[in-house]
Amino acid sequence: MTVFTNNIVNEVRRLTDYQVHGQVTAVIGMMVEVDGVEGSLFIGDHCRVVGRDGLHVICEVVGFRQGRALLMPFGSLAGIGLGCRAEITATDPAIYPGELWLGRVINAFGEPVDGKGPLPTGSLAYPVHSPPPPAHARQRVGGKIDLGIRAMNTFLTCCRGQRMGIFSGSGIGKSTVLSMMARYTNAEVTVIGLVGERGREAREFIEDDLGPEGMRRSVVVVATSDQSPLLRRQAAYMTMAVAEFFRDRGNDVLCLMDSINRFAMAQREISLSIGEPPASKGYTPSVFAELPRLLERAGPGTGDKGSITGLFTVLVEGDDHNEPVADAVRGILDGHVVLDRAIAERGRYPAINVLRSVSRTMPDCNSDIENAIVTRARQILATYEDMAELIRLGAYRQGSDPLVDEAVHFFPAIDGFLRQEINEKTGLADCYRMMGEILGMRDAGEQAGAPRPGGPAPAAPPEAGEGSPASEEATPVTPGPRPALDLRAANVLQTTDENRGT
Ligand SMILES: Nc1ncnc2c1ncn2[C@@H]1O[C@H](COP(=O)(O)OP(=O)(O)OP(=O)(O)O)[C@@H](O)[C@H]1O
Ligand SMILES: [Mg+2]
Repeated sequence: MTVFTNNIVNEVRRLTDYQVHGQVTAVIGMMVEVDGVEGSLFIGDHCRVVGRDGLHVICEVVGFRQGRALLMPFGSLAGIGLGCRAEITATDPAIYPGELWLGRVINAFGEPVDGKGPLPTGSLAYPVHSPPPPAHARQRVGGKIDLGIRAMNTFLTCCRGQRMGIFSGSGIGKSTVLSMMARYTNAEVTVIGLVGERGREAREFIEDDLGPEGMRRSVVVVATSDQSPLLRRQAAYMTMAVAEFFRDRGNDVLCLMDSINRFAMAQREISLSIGEPPASKGYTPSVFAELPRLLERAGPGTGDKGSITGLFTVLVEGDDHNEPVADAVRGILDGHVVLDRAIAERGRYPAINVLRSVSRTMPDCNSDIENAIVTRARQILATYEDMAELIRLGAYRQGSDPLVDEAVHFFPAIDGFLRQEINEKTGLADCYRMMGEILGMRDAGEQAGAPRPGGPAPAAPPEAGEGSPASEEATPVTPGPRPALDLRAANVLQTTDENRGT
């Protein structure tokens, strides 16, 4: 069957068996009340309201009141008036994704918006609002996924089927981190949802950040901030539906969504307009009910299917990491990456605060050697952070505490390791090797990245295992020879010495 015949067959499948229509009885703000559809319309169904001069506005059923359906439009309500006809178009909206969707940009309805012609559809329907797979039938998370970012690969290793949030205040680099992952990951397919972001950013993301190479194995779903809350919310569901299609083909999918707040805000706008009372900071209870329904759709698949590894950005308003949406999302996901304004302000990007971030699949996904490297680096960072203020003020005297002396010595190199240019990629195995060398654990660093005995196999980036013997008989890690402490290597102490001299 040709692509176009397939598209027509799917259009016919989408038609309802019989025509039911109601009438518009009220329009208040963004909400349309429709009478005469009792028993025919259900939450989530789509309706076409026919306005002046045959104008069509697609709406979704979002509630019921006093025997009438409450609809919200996907577009503008201009031209809609009392008595207009409301026709039911789709009960349980679905898409028919196909392999040829790779490399394409679509909107929240699954329609192409990249000017590359019609989108060939597949033969299986994927509901836009599908429930997450049953918990008991899901596989466990798989081996590691390479995200190409040193701070993530080393300190916050992510496994196939894991779901992580990237949390920060505005303008600290969430979208940039996401774009680096999209470009550098070794996942077979990337599905990217740009939900409620600026229109300018969507184009820049596709053309500059993703580029032709990243785009080839990606599907991008876009709904910009100027579009209706229904479209913004549906873009998030659409992203998941497309990811589910590739997961069911057996692919390991990386699903990136920017941002979860815009999804939550869209849900808040929808529910406030139908009269749901706000609960926390203006967010309605349905926001907190929808968040797990969306996020749980990512994760490992069932049986022999693939997985959806999810990375979702979360804007924390006023840098308050305990605000309600951030708090709810953190509780649902399997880890959080915190971007820190103070780190960005001193020019270290990506501004990941390793000590405040957690990947809940670590340390289980790592070999003993890898865990030893990470633990030692974390200890050094923690010691340095505890003393950072005193060191900067020149109040710390070298030799007072060997642990602090060690932290001061190693900090600049670890800080340099965490600093990564946007166009720079580092594979999973190289990350441990580099960190091992920095810490004087060269042998350990070389053995790290080899398959973990009895554990999940590491992801298979081209670099994985290069020159790394299997670590089955790995000797316990002993710290390598420590280079003599040269405190002048640390810029901070140069300041200290200067202070002392004055
Ligand atoms: N890796 C990086 N290297 C250099 N600069 C960076 C890097 N990451 C972010 N930036 C700087 O930070 C700015 C904001 O980044 P970005 O748009 O990714 O932040 P954001 O957290 O997504 O912002 P918003 O909350 O507004 O969506 C960029 O314009 C850039 O100047
Ligand atoms: Mg952003």
